[in-house]
Amino acid sequence: MAGPGFINLRLDPAWVAQQLATVAADTERDGVPAAEPAQRIVVDYSAPNIAKEMHVGHIRSTIIGDAICRTLAFAGHEVIRDNHIGDWGTSFGLLIVGMRRHVDEQALAKRPIAELERLYKLASEEAKADEATADEARAELAKLQKRDPENYAQWEKIVAATRVELDRIYARLNIEFDLWRGESAYEDALPGVVEDLLERGIAVEDQGAICIFFDDHPQLKKVKTPLIIRKKDGAFLYSTTDIATVLYRRDVLKADRAIYVVGQPQALHFKQLFATMEKLGVEMVLEHVPFGSIVGKDGKMFRTRGGGTVKLSELLDEAEERAEKLMLDELEMDPEGARAMAKPVGIGAVKYADLSQNRTSDYKFDWEKMISLKGDASPYLQYAHARTCSIFRKGEIDPSTLGAVTPQLEHEAELGLARLLLRFADVVHQAAETNQPHLICEHLYGVARALSVFWEKCPVLKSEGATRESRLLLCWLTARQLARGLGLLGIEAPQRM
Ligand code: ARG
Repeated sequence: MAGPGFINLRLDPAWVAQQLATVAADTERDGVPAAEPAQRIVVDYSAPNIAKEMHVGHIRSTIIGDAICRTLAFAGHEVIRDNHIGDWGTSFGLLIVGMRRHVDEQALAKRPIAELERLYKLASEEAKADEATADEARAELAKLQKRDPENYAQWEKIVAATRVELDRIYARLNIEFDLWRGESAYEDALPGVVEDLLERGIAVEDQGAICIFFDDHPQLKKVKTPLIIRKKDGAFLYSTTDIATVLYRRDVLKADRAIYVVGQPQALHFKQLFATMEKLGVEMVLEHVPFGSIVGKDGKMFRTRGGGTVKLSELLDEAEERAEKLMLDELEMDPEGARAMAKPVGIGAVKYADLSQNRTSDYKFDWEKMISLKGDASPYLQYAHARTCSIFRKGEIDPSTLGAVTPQLEHEAELGLARLLLRFADVVHQAAETNQPHLICEHLYGVARALSVFWEKCPVLKSEGATRESRLLLCWLTARQLARGLGLLGIEAPQRM
């Protein structure tokens, strides 16, 4: 008892040491047990639209979605990463007209998305100015929908060109997908979906359109707009595709759960989609994982200095340049070494800045804060990791020989670090269950700070005997956990910096 209302608990250092030894021996999973039962989970993330630059929403979805996939997989689940790209829709009529009239093949090969955006803009200006072009675009779209071979080939070319550029971006970010089932993959299923919903009385006709109302739903009944699944003119919508997609994921992919990493503005869409699936008796767990937007330092929409929208590839270029400069100026690396660090440090910093915020809040984009060796930023964590690795190089010690050491936790700084390290399994599972990568960031930052306190108070290589072995073990575990944790966030942990 410590005064009225307080009971203090102290962990027995011998017990902490025992736990730590168990974790140290588990080089495979660092003491993180696999989730039971393991689920088969589809993660729907990134999902940019063809012939358009990724916007900030796609950037966040890509980075957050990837971290969620890595965390779920490590937690023991089977993850299916699905890039549900927007590769179908009315814009293709204009794109085909634009391609036919104005395509610059060289530009298409070099900067495909910029060229496609230019073509789309040209064609839509022409369609606005003259009715004949507008008609032509509509006719081309109709032909494409009927699978006219020539237009279908054009569509394939547009999709392929965009994919080349997307693949480049994903490669830079070290992100992969198991599937690229975009909206077009569900096109043939849509008429059947609508028929079925009508037959079951879930959807009804309203002023010519086919709609789903939610008058019986506690929350959604307050929303006046129904979910429209077929327009008056017979066209299907984003919502229709999403219904077909859920059914595919349940019936073909045999998923237990699907997670949609999509921005907050689509919250209502997903509520209505999930309520529809409930009416259909779909038991798969469906979750919308929303996130806020990125704002500039001034709190306003994130834009380039010129006021334009920020292109992801240019943002990554700048991150790499700044990271290289940081390595040169603050770590006094040689030019070659600094260049080699540009990618892992620069890209890591962009990812960490996004992931370390509670995802539902807007996040302030701030170069100085994110590309920094101090504070809550990934270069700081990477540097802590690399410095820990350097102890083993300096001492010429092979850490795997420490497997049998039982640590002695005498100093408060040793205990503090050890206690934090033992939280890792809980943190990983909590992050996996709640789709909140920032919990991992918070933990790693805490570990790195405890590590620097430990270094300040407890010499490692200069100590002797059992104390030295024990401290080396602490360093080894810390380095492993930092690397593992950064890995779950999709961030590299170089051995040297
Ligand atoms: N392409 C959509 C957009 O850019 C995102 C798709 C998200 N996934 C889904 N199944 N609706 O807004």
